[in-house]
Amino acid sequence: MSSLIWWRLMVMVTLQVLTTTSATRTVLTPEVNPGCGEKETDARMDCDEPWLIHVTANGKNDSIHHLWGTHGAPSFLVVTTALNTTMTVNWTELEVPSKASVTFDKDPVHVFGFSIPNLILFNDVHDTGIFDNSSQRYVVPMTDFTWEVNMVSNDSDHEVGASIQTKTFRGTSLPNETKISVQLTAFGEDGRSTLLPHLLTTPDSAQMDMILDHLDLNLTSDDNKLYVEDEGPGDISGFANARWAMDLVIFSSEEIIDGEEGIQLSARKSLDDENTPGVFHLYEVMTSLARNGQQGGYMQWRPVSYLSSDRDVNVATNPNINSSFTLLKEISQPLKESLSYAVFGDELVGKRTTAKSVVSFGLTNDNFYLANNYTTWTVALGHGTPPDETFSTLVIAIIAVGVSIPVLMFLIGGTVIVSRKCRRSSQPLIQD
Ligand SMILES: *[C@@H]1O[C@H](CO)[C@@H](O)[C@H](O)[C@H]1NC(C)=O
Ligand SMILES: *[C@@H]1O[C@H](CO)[C@@H](O)[C@H](O)[C@H]1NC(C)=O
Ligand SMILES: *[C@@H]1O[C@H](CO)[C@@H](O)[C@H](O)[C@H]1NC(C)=O
Ligand SMILES: *[C@@H]1O[C@H](CO)[C@@H](O)[C@H](O)[C@H]1NC(C)=O
Ligand SMILES: *[C@@H]1O[C@H](CO)[C@@H](O)[C@H](O)[C@H]1NC(C)=O
Ligand SMILES: *[C@@H]1O[C@H](CO)[C@@H](O)[C@H](O)[C@H]1NC(C)=O
Ligand SMILES: *[C@@H]1O[C@H](CO)[C@@H](O)[C@H](O)[C@H]1NC(C)=O
Ligand SMILES: *[C@@H]1O[C@H](CO)[C@@H](O)[C@H](O)[C@H]1NC(C)=O
Ligand SMILES: *[C@@H]1O[C@H](CO)[C@@H](O)[C@H](O)[C@H]1NC(C)=O
Repeated sequence: MSSLIWWRLMVMVTLQVLTTTSATRTVLTPEVNPGCGEKETDARMDCDEPWLIHVTANGKNDSIHHLWGTHGAPSFLVVTTALNTTMTVNWTELEVPSKASVTFDKDPVHVFGFSIPNLILFNDVHDTGIFDNSSQRYVVPMTDFTWEVNMVSNDSDHEVGASIQTKTFRGTSLPNETKISVQLTAFGEDGRSTLLPHLLTTPDSAQMDMILDHLDLNLTSDDNKLYVEDEGPGDISGFANARWAMDLVIFSSEEIIDGEEGIQLSARKSLDDENTPGVFHLYEVMTSLARNGQQGGYMQWRPVSYLSSDRDVNVATNPNINSSFTLLKEISQPLKESLSYAVFGDELVGKRTTAKSVVSFGLTNDNFYLANNYTTWTVALGHGTPPDETFSTLVIAIIAVGVSIPVLMFLIGGTVIVSRKCRRSSQPLIQD
C-alpha cells in the first residue's frame, strides 16, 4: 500500500518538475475592436462596445488568438494558428451581421469556444437548482443587453485581461448595481489564477469569470422604465423561487466523425481542496481530440458559484450543467449576431462538432437568487488537453512525513522482530 503511494508521489513530483519547465507564451496587450471606425462606411458603428477583444499569445511554433466579444451572444474563442498569422475584421460585414467577417490569412489549425445566447429566469418550484424543460421561465436573449469595456490590463508578458459589463437592457440604462460583469484573462504560462476558485492555467488557456449581480429584472414589464424592479415583493417577475440559468453552445472546428462522440462532459474527483476550499470535484468539457490526448479544445471548472463578492465557500451554490449535450440544429438570432458566427459562419451547424446545453445556478435550500442577488461562474477554456491537478510541495511534504513515519516504524519493528527470531532460533544451536 505505502509503496503504491510512494510510487504515485514520485510520478507527481516528476510531472510537476516537467510541467514547470514546459513552454511559455508571450501574451500581447489586448486590442479592443482593432480597426473599428477607421473606414467611413463603419463610422456610425459604436466602437466602444466590446465587439471583439483580441489577445495574441505567441509561442515558439504557433500563436493562440483569444477572441472575446459580447455583441449578440457573449462568445469566447481560442483560435490556434501558425506564427505570424494576421487576423482581419471586416467591420462593415461584422455589423450586418454576416458570416466570415473575422478571417485569418492562414487557415487556423484549431478553433474552440463557447457562446451564451440566452439567459433564462426560471421558477424552481421544487427547489432543486436544476432547470428542466417543465420549469416556468422567461427566456432573455442576450441581444437585449449592450455592453461596455471597463478596463483592459496587461500586467505582464504572461497575463493580460479585460473586464466588461452590461450597460443597457432593452434600450434602457441599467442602475449601477444591476449588471452582468465578465472578467477575461489570457495566460502565457502554467499556474493558477489568483481569483477564487483558483483554476489552473496553461500557456494555451484563458479564463472567463461571470457575475450576475443584482439581476433583478422585471421581465413582465412592457414599460421601458420598469425593467428593473423596485423594492420587490420577494420575487422576480412574479417567480417566488426565481433562479438564473443560461443556454450554452460549445463549438469546435473538429469535424463530426460518424459513430464518434463529439464534445463531452466529464467530472472527476480532484486530489485535494487546498486551492479551492470545500470543493473536491473538477468538471471538464473536451472535444474528441482533447479526450484522445491531442491538440483539441477544453473547458474546465470547479462546481462552485460564489454568492458574495468575498467568494467564501460557505456562501456558495452550484452551477448545474445538463450533461446530455445535443448538436446545434439552428443558428438563433443572438448566435447569428455573435463573434462565433463571425468566425464560423454557417458551419456552426452541420459538419463541425457542437454541443448545446443549459447551466443553472442553485442548490436545494440556498433560498434562491434573491437571497444574495449575486452568482458567479468561473470557467477556464483552452487549447490542448485540460491541465491536471498536482499536489503542492507543502502537501507532498506533509504526505511524505505521514507516510515515512509508519514505514520507518514498520522497518524498525521488523528489524527488532527478525533479530529476536534469529537469536531465538540460534539458541537451540548453542544448546546442542
Ligand atoms: C510547428 O507547427 C507546424 C504547423 O504550424 C507543425 O506542422 C509542426 O509540427 C510544428 N513543430 C513543432 C516542433 O511542434
Ligand atoms: C514571424 O515574424 C518575425 C518578425 O516579423 C520573423 O522574424 C519570423 O521569422 C516570422 N516567423 C515565421 C514562422 O514566419
Ligand atoms: C468588407 O466587405 C464588404 C462587403 O462584402 C466589401 O465591399 C469590402 O471591400 C470589405 N472590406 C474589406 C476591407 O475587405
Ligand atoms: C437535459 O437535456 C436533455 C436534452 O436536451 C433533455 O432531454 C433533458 O430533459 C434535460 N434534463 C433536464 C433535467 O432538464
Ligand atoms: C421543451 O418544452 C418546449 C415547450 O415548453 C418544447 O417545445 C420542447 O420541444 C421541449 N424540449 C425538450 C427537449 O423536451
Ligand atoms: C502594456 O500596454 C502599454 C500600452 O500599449 C505598453 O506601453 C506596455 O509596454 C504594456 N506592458 C506590458 C507588460 O506589455
Ligand atoms: C452611478 O455611478 C455613477 C458613477 O460612479 C454616479 O455618478 C451615479 O451617481 C451613480 N448612480 C446611482 C443611482 O447610484
Ligand atoms: C413589473 O412590471 C409590471 C408591468 O409594467 C408592473 O405591473 C409590475 O408592478 C412591475 N413589478 C415590479 C416589482 O416593479
Ligand atoms: C436582493 O434584492 C431584493 C430585491 O431588490 C431585496 O429585497 C433583497 O433584500 C436583496 N438581498 C440582498 C442580500 O441584498
